[in-house]
Amino acid sequence: MELKISLLSVLLFVFVSVCLSTDPKDICPPRNLIEPCYCEKFCVYCHVSLKCRELLNQEVLTDVVRKSNDYQYGTFELRDSSVQYIPSSIFSIQKIESLYIFTSSLVSWFDKAPQVDYDLDVLHLNEVRMTRRVQFDLFSGIKSLKRLSIMHTTVRRLDENFINNIPKNLKQLVVYNCSLSKLDDNILKLFTQLESVEIDTGKIREVKRILLSDVSSVIRTRTLSCIADLLSVKAGVLGGLRSGPGSNRTWNKAFTLLLNGDVTKGLQELLKERSNWLSRPDHLMRAARHYERAAQIFIQNSVKTVKEYMVLTPASLPDIGAYITAECPARIDLLGGWSDTPPICYELGGSVVNVAILVDGKKPIGARACRTKEPSITLKIGLGEINQVILIKDMKDILNYDQPNAQGALLKAALICTEVINISYGETLQEQLLSKFEGGFEIQSWSNLPQGCGRIILICT
Ligand SMILES: *[C@@H]1O[C@H](CO)[C@@H](O)[C@H](O)[C@H]1NC(C)=O
Ligand SMILES: *[C@@H]1O[C@H](CO)[C@@H](O)[C@H](O)[C@H]1NC(C)=O
Ligand SMILES: *[C@@H]1O[C@H](CO)[C@@H](O)[C@H](O)[C@H]1NC(C)=O
Repeated sequence: MELKISLLSVLLFVFVSVCLSTDPKDICPPRNLIEPCYCEKFCVYCHVSLKCRELLNQEVLTDVVRKSNDYQYGTFELRDSSVQYIPSSIFSIQKIESLYIFTSSLVSWFDKAPQVDYDLDVLHLNEVRMTRRVQFDLFSGIKSLKRLSIMHTTVRRLDENFINNIPKNLKQLVVYNCSLSKLDDNILKLFTQLESVEIDTGKIREVKRILLSDVSSVIRTRTLSCIADLLSVKAGVLGGLRSGPGSNRTWNKAFTLLLNGDVTKGLQELLKERSNWLSRPDHLMRAARHYERAAQIFIQNSVKTVKEYMVLTPASLPDIGAYITAECPARIDLLGGWSDTPPICYELGGSVVNVAILVDGKKPIGARACRTKEPSITLKIGLGEINQVILIKDMKDILNYDQPNAQGALLKAALICTEVINISYGETLQEQLLSKFEGGFEIQSWSNLPQGCGRIILICT
């Protein structure tokens, strides 16, 4: 007997916990409650959908929504119908995450602007005839929306009304065959989270190039990489090797514009040059390499923004010959190594978990610097038996700072980055060093870790 009771209570417990764990969005209301609409659940892990077809009367729709006030749906879908509006309570009460409208007529999207303080997944309109002009202000109460797609529906304009009312965390935007005739140049500037944009050009021919100038650098970089991939696929095996130099001078104009941040003109120039390279497989492959290079320029420009995080403060000059030394521990990487390097860190925000360690009780990595009378810079790489000594006597000696194979490239880049040397300034190196520092520098850096162990570590003293 006792056993039976305890078994029963176990079953009861299981039953109750199963009930409790059911999401309200997984339960369909009784059929008759929502007729002529119906509730559907196809897949195992997705929420239920309320679907209505061929409704010709607003009251019927309002009634179905009102009657299911005790229920919640993942999705609401309206098809082949003609009603006045979608009741906005479908967001506040049923808390739908997705709204789909197909081949229907409406007077207006909603009866009033819905207040939505949770994450909406998608609003999708396909072939919707709207009596009133599209009112983006009805979206003003929506805090968060991932995807918006409007197709075969007259929208006419994406303007301030769109910018001001559509949530800025939008990730995907599709506007296709919507008779667009007005599109503000900076329409997407504030939508910094956009990952995919598809806007049918319609009557507007320049749209994509204008848009790109305002889209986040991540999208641009990816777009260019995708074009490079496409070109190489078109080139096929006859195109030759995919990797190789992308340095034909005919592309220089585009690259220079991009390097200088003139994105719109740079992309136009890129497009213009591309048209000369489409007729033969080997040319297509070369175009692909140059597109890859253009993508790298965006990454390069992003890397340069590191200066925003550096604070330089004026300080008095130390005595000539007095060394200033900085040392740091080694780090061992537990998780996420390389995810903190471009382009991954820009696209996905890489994170690394590491531990700082001493090696044989000492900090193994360090650098030291002192001022010298001579207005030149001596770089010494390594400690004890010095491996390399690089003398910078002239501005041209430092200009290879961006060639990773060049001797001392990293230290040279650090000198430029920390504004010790300004390579775009008219003065000679000696004049610059004398006027700013009354002399030159000797800089030495070392790492007592085995060769090839870990990444380059940059220390600026
Ligand atoms: C554009 O949408 C209209 C309906 O608004 C449709 O009749 C037409 O076929 C669509 N055109 C294209 C190219 O999809
Ligand atoms: C650059 O491209 C042009 C046009 O295809 C070609 O004639 C020229 O030889 C190329 N230059 C180099 C250095 O490859
Ligand atoms: C370098 O010199 C150029 C030309 O005088 C100037 O425009 C630029 O601001 C300088 N850069 C720095 C970092 O001081």
